[in-house]
Amino acid sequence: GMLHLIQHDNSNVLIQGRVTGLTPGLHGFHIHVNGNCDSPDGMSAGGHYAPAGGRHGAPSSKDHHLGDLGNIEADRSGVANVSVDVQGVSLALIGLNSIVDRAVVIHAGADDFSDPAGNSGARVACGVIEQDMDMRM
Ligand code: CU
Ligand code: ZN
Repeated sequence: GMLHLIQHDNSNVLIQGRVTGLTPGLHGFHIHVNGNCDSPDGMSAGGHYAPAGGRHGAPSSKDHHLGDLGNIEADRSGVANVSVDVQGVSLALIGLNSIVDRAVVIHAGADDFSDPAGNSGARVACGVIEQDMDMRM
């Protein structure tokens, strides 16, 4: 699949795109701390991105890791259309809560929002977040 990240104001990033080849149903969807998807099991991406700490939870709950994005849902053909607005992050290269050079991970199962990591099973897809290199002048 392919996901596009668009920063649409100082602290919100919209993740949009389409992922295929999933099993039907819900899949945990997180930002993990390391921009490294080299290991086949995705473990090289490390744990959830949580610069302010906190407990694992739903993005709508008050206490959650910054990288906890909830679930995406794949249809009966295994296709998930993703549109997730992430609050409190940026695509700046450096600075507070930058998600550049971190990883988006999709899990085999649903995130049940239990601490510490939501119980969503194996990491079935992993992608490194890169800054859009288009120059706007
Ligand atoms: Cu995850
Ligand atoms: Zn988490």
